Amino acid sequence: MPSTLRFVLCGSVDDGKSTLIGRILYDCQQAFSDQLRRVEEDSRRYGTQGDAADLALLVDGLQDEREQGITIDVAYRAFETPRRRFIVADVPGHEQYTRNMATGASTADLAVVIVDARKGILPQTGRHSRIAAMFGVRHFVLAVNKMDLVGWDQATFEEIATDYRRVAADLRLTDVQSIPVSALTGDNLTRRSDAMPWYTGPTLLAHLETAEVESPATGRAFRMPVQYVNRPDPDFRGYCGRVAAGTVSPGDRVRVLPSGVETAVESIVVWQGTRERAARSDSVTLTLAPDVDVSRGDVIAAADDPLEVADQFQARIVWMGDEPLTVGRPFVLKLHTREVGCTVTRIRHRVDVADGRELAAAQLGLNDLGVVNLSTSRPVPFAPFDESRELGGFILIDRATNATVGAGTITFALMRASNLKWQDFDISGEVRADLKGQRARCLWLTGLSASGKSTVANLLERRLVTEGRHTYLLDGDNVRHGLNRDLGFTEADRVENIRRVAEVARLMVDAGLIVIVSFISPFQAERDFARSLFEPGDFREIFVDASLEACARRDPKGLYARAMRGEIRNFTGIDSPYERPEHPDLHIDTEKLSPEECVELVMRSLHS
Ligand code: ADX
Repeated sequence: MPSTLRFVLCGSVDDGKSTLIGRILYDCQQAFSDQLRRVEEDSRRYGTQGDAADLALLVDGLQDEREQGITIDVAYRAFETPRRRFIVADVPGHEQYTRNMATGASTADLAVVIVDARKGILPQTGRHSRIAAMFGVRHFVLAVNKMDLVGWDQATFEEIATDYRRVAADLRLTDVQSIPVSALTGDNLTRRSDAMPWYTGPTLLAHLETAEVESPATGRAFRMPVQYVNRPDPDFRGYCGRVAAGTVSPGDRVRVLPSGVETAVESIVVWQGTRERAARSDSVTLTLAPDVDVSRGDVIAAADDPLEVADQFQARIVWMGDEPLTVGRPFVLKLHTREVGCTVTRIRHRVDVADGRELAAAQLGLNDLGVVNLSTSRPVPFAPFDESRELGGFILIDRATNATVGAGTITFALMRASNLKWQDFDISGEVRADLKGQRARCLWLTGLSASGKSTVANLLERRLVTEGRHTYLLDGDNVRHGLNRDLGFTEADRVENIRRVAEVARLMVDAGLIVIVSFISPFQAERDFARSLFEPGDFREIFVDASLEACARRDPKGLYARAMRGEIRNFTGIDSPYERPEHPDLHIDTEKLSPEECVELVMRSLHS
């Protein structure tokens, strides 16, 4: 069984990329048509399972790309020679290049970087190599193409190869092979070039056939992220997943993470029956004895060498969102089979993709590469990406649109989660609310300045208190005098403003109170984050709606007039956006209803 080499082809159309891959495929087909026929028969017989499984190895979650409404434009082709099987990721070189490049590189062992001999090393050459290296590629080939157009000149080739060695040294690439080729004539692709007798190294194909690419996770301790808990009947409970590292056999002691509970493997079940051993890349179902609590997203690991668990990380990311990445904004992080809430707590720096310089940055824009600190809402079992692609590569998903907005790799944990534990106390939020004879909730009023939030909030609280309820009112202006006095009105400050008030509201609901929050809270992502802190039904998003014109007309504090004169910057509705709630629990129109009628609607919605 020949080994498989996954490689990614980087370069633009102008560099001759399509010609190069086209010719290799063509030549291989000519020379090895017998093998090819066999491959075709095999894939007919077995379907495309083999390859499909390989491709699914993509940074976990990208397989959901279609559901998430983004297209990762990477074409995969498989071919074979008597010595090796190849899966090549061909990344088209247009706009979303970084995103596609990251996807293609995330499963590749080797990258072929193509340059035009007439142009030499360009900024994009550095860019491609840097992204490939960041996503775990350790072996590089520089294909200096179009040698025919520079008269097969050795000096030109040597100069380019020397320039690239500088880039490689910068990226600490240890394995680089430079090869002078002509994709058009086929020289040094699959056959040696008569025109370049001065080159004594391997042809591109020969190099690909023989390149040694160790897989970092083989031979290590056993790890399997749980994809799915299989309970077909009360007698059977199995945990399905794909082995990410090491091997496992019945009787092996294992630990379930993040809980840390220890147990043993009882059996390894596959669809044909049971097995005595499973190794990396095998998809299996494990049963445990004694059976313990395991959920999707947990990792089953060797008991004597378990995985780290943490909730604060340093990571490298590629930003793929149209909107820039802002500190504090909540996302969903998808790491192996686990999904958790996550925020970027700090952008350490942006990386200049062309030369690797570290640049100060408050935000990361589309296609930017950066180093950040991440905080997850719950502890996550992981491995640094350098140790395991499967357990250290992640994507970030926008809560509102469900689109993949970032891809990244964990460098290390900043603090072990075990240093900070939740304390369990005897008195729960429910007990505290019961004592007050009420159901504790958060009533979140959002809307433009002067839309009527404060007026409605004030009347609403009076009404609740009259009915004997225990309440608290959190108002934007007031909280900004104390807890949030350090925050202004930039996007990042507003995100932090809402994060803090949402956390305070959660504490107050836990104290058994009915909490009214009256903040502009202009962004859907933060309102969704606030909702995520509460039990379903305990959070009500109430849209206090009035047109911008009406608010500007009311202008009780004279702020609109000042904003329109340019005296106040970043004023919501004027030069800072307000995202109307998409699915509020309640929508009240203060241009049509009196404050009393609005309160009536809220009260009625609480009883429903
Ligand atoms: S939020 O956008 O971060 O939710 P918040 O509700 O706390 O805003 O504060 C809004 C109040 O701050 C407004 O009612 C207004 O009185 C005052 N304010 C001062 N500057 C601005 C501004 N640039 N944009 C909006 N409100 C402002």
